[in-house]
Amino acid sequence: MLKIPPFEEIYGRPPRWIVAAPGRVNVIGEHTDYNDGFVLPMAIERYAVMAADISSFMPPRIIISDAHRGDTAQIDLSRPVVKADPRWSNYIRGVVAGFQNLGLTVPAMDISLVSTVPLGGGLSSSAALEVCTATLLEAAIGTKLDPVEKALLCQQAEHKFAGVPCGIMDQFISVMGQKNHLLLLDCRSRQTTLVPMDDPSVALLVINTNVKHELSGGEYAERRTQCETAAKILGIPSLRDATPEALERARRKMDLITFRRAHHVISENERTLQAVEEIRNSNWPVVGQHMYRSHYSLRDDFEVSCKELDAVVDICQSIGIEGGVYGCRMTGAGFGGSCVALVKAEAGDKSSKRIAAAYRLATAGAETKKTIEATIFSSRPASGATVIQG
Ligand code: GLA
Repeated sequence: MLKIPPFEEIYGRPPRWIVAAPGRVNVIGEHTDYNDGFVLPMAIERYAVMAADISSFMPPRIIISDAHRGDTAQIDLSRPVVKADPRWSNYIRGVVAGFQNLGLTVPAMDISLVSTVPLGGGLSSSAALEVCTATLLEAAIGTKLDPVEKALLCQQAEHKFAGVPCGIMDQFISVMGQKNHLLLLDCRSRQTTLVPMDDPSVALLVINTNVKHELSGGEYAERRTQCETAAKILGIPSLRDATPEALERARRKMDLITFRRAHHVISENERTLQAVEEIRNSNWPVVGQHMYRSHYSLRDDFEVSCKELDAVVDICQSIGIEGGVYGCRMTGAGFGGSCVALVKAEAGDKSSKRIAAAYRLATAGAETKKTIEATIFSSRPASGATVIQG
């Protein structure tokens, strides 16, 4: 689902460039990226899209009109770019500042933006916006950054302008996604390996609980610190270097919470590599088991799930392989957002309907009788950022 922004309606002339960058769903490997571990995301068919043209306005500024939010932001280019309102514009400001820090001259522009990546759905709407901006600036300046440098620049925008100390997964996949492939990313070496995911007998469902997550809430940063504490106690640079045995031996040197956090990361790295092998073998029932185990580990050891995410996973488990569902887990940072489910393609529609109906029931408040509707869609692995025009 790629919507073209209404540039001409707003600015009265056709756009010179149109660029797009996708959101992502992480199949497995959660909260491992900032521990130098392994992740396995794929780009989804939901995109941030910008249509733009050079502007002759003086003093030079960038105007961004966001069709989805019905809001406009302005970035004054005659002075250093800093954080400012509206909040969503900070992802764009951060990338503009990143380009300027490379010594590149960012031109004044009129931009029309539209995004089909659900906001706060744990599907990296912010990374899509950052990478979309970087792709537009590359086109407008006439330069191409190295893909790793581009992803890291976007990650820095998130750190410095949005205050979220995220890892590298979201920006890497939005830049480097490839059609019909998952991306195995070694977050230490930054080496990427494409893992084919083109078996027509299976599909991935994204199940948005529509319970919003807010990453700047502090829990994410807290998890990061807890992992660093565990690594320090273990005497290693990061949890990537830990083994289950070493953690067991150090059990008495750390409190239970620190132990559990480390336990999640160590086991999740193992699961991710095993899942990659099983995906290569099209051994879908085993991939599904890894996904469930990942979820339980995130729920119990890492404590980043919530009752709505757990409800979706329970529903999928009760539908089972006979009903067409191989596995399911929460995806992204957690505390709300989305689940990803691996399903039999032929039963995809039926599974979606069953999950939606059961979720409605599961979220029915005893007193309020209000239910939550999940938004469910299926996506093939999509391509990373692209220049559509210009
Ligand atoms: C967010 C962050 C990522 C990653 C995930 C959890 O999406 O942006 O870097 O840490 O959470 O796996």
